[in-house]
Amino acid sequence: MSESQWMEIGALADIPPRGARVVRTELGDIAVFRAADDAVFALDDRCPHQGGPLSQGMVLGHRVACPLHNWQIELGSGEAVAPDEGCTRRHPVRVEDGRVYLAPDTGGAAEAARSVETES
Ligand code: FES
Repeated sequence: MSESQWMEIGALADIPPRGARVVRTELGDIAVFRAADDAVFALDDRCPHQGGPLSQGMVLGHRVACPLHNWQIELGSGEAVAPDEGCTRRHPVRVEDGRVYLAPDTGGAAEAARSVETES
């Protein structure tokens, strides 16, 4: 079953601009990012390199720099910027009337967890 359910996670204003907050779900921690232009993105809070907490990275434009070894991850796709290679699962997220809604992607989270396990 990969059907996603929208859940309200709070106000956009509660996420610092160019920052993130972590939403703990049954599928693991999901980092919800807010770019300087108020675009929001949701990715597993795990770097595709060695599982670093992306929520603690610096957001620049629509990318986040992993705090561990500085890989750059595209927030829109979850992909590492070349020359690095790897992909973190993204999750659907939207803003309505200043509230943020997240739909954790069940199929993807399991896949992301597997890829991290094989690297560590
Ligand atoms: S764990 Fe993210 S760059 Fe190494």
